[in-house]
Amino acid sequence: MARPAVIAHRGYAGIAPENTIEAATRAADRDETAMLEIDVQPAACGTPVVVHDERLEGVRDGRPLTDAAGLVRETPLAELRTARVLGTDATIPTLADVLEAVPETVGLNVELKNPGRSDLRVGELLSGNERAERREVWRPFVERVVADCEGFGGELLFSSFCEGAIAALREVADDAAAPLVWDDLEAGLEIARRYDCEAIHPPRNAIAGTELAETVYAGFSTGEPEIDVLEAAHAEGRAVNAWTATNWLQFEQLAAAGVDGIIADYPGLDRDSSER
Ligand code: G3P
Ligand code: MG
Repeated sequence: MARPAVIAHRGYAGIAPENTIEAATRAADRDETAMLEIDVQPAACGTPVVVHDERLEGVRDGRPLTDAAGLVRETPLAELRTARVLGTDATIPTLADVLEAVPETVGLNVELKNPGRSDLRVGELLSGNERAERREVWRPFVERVVADCEGFGGELLFSSFCEGAIAALREVADDAAAPLVWDDLEAGLEIARRYDCEAIHPPRNAIAGTELAETVYAGFSTGEPEIDVLEAAHAEGRAVNAWTATNWLQFEQLAAAGVDGIIADYPGLDRDSSER
């Protein structure tokens, strides 16, 4: 069985300040890195910036995400550019900064986090009327993101927990797209069908047969999921990239299950222990 592609989560957030140029370039330097995963949302002016949390004072292991405060979408770009990440000298980059720093030998998985609003429908199927409304909510931001990515020659894969983002992307670009699954595998599979997505991104504990009982992501409990998302997606010709491996055992179990890609917090999880 082919080994899964390694997708560096926020630029291997386990070893570098997440979603920064430092993380991106370190991830790109590793020869196992097939893609770099980053989170994007708009600054106050609409410019796509690379940061995960809606608020600058989000917390990681008890430490503030940045030395600034407030909503990203209300913060001027100049201020975001000087916000230091996790007590380091690294700052919040724009999407354009990351695209410039990353060689085109490494693909980019751009996760569309929010369109400048927080009234999102995460992981849910939208009804007919909602679909058009949400698509329009996302569209201006998605257009900015796609415009920034235009000159990038590497592989591009857009993902989102929000159906509206996938709907908007399908209107403005031909690039690959994947719904991120939150707590409803059937909804994720249906969104993938609606927009004929190239891939689907379920949480790792939703992959049948992985026996991953320790950490529970999203709305999934321990034990076997009711739907075999891997089988269902593969039967429809879609790739399955699971999020997020934080150790080698999780990586190995996902690889043995047959996923196509693994979004990983650490580099080297795919290697022998002597090489990690
Ligand atoms: O794209 C996979 C993963 O990044 C989704 O979760 O919260 O780390 O963005 P999160
Ligand atoms: Mg992400």
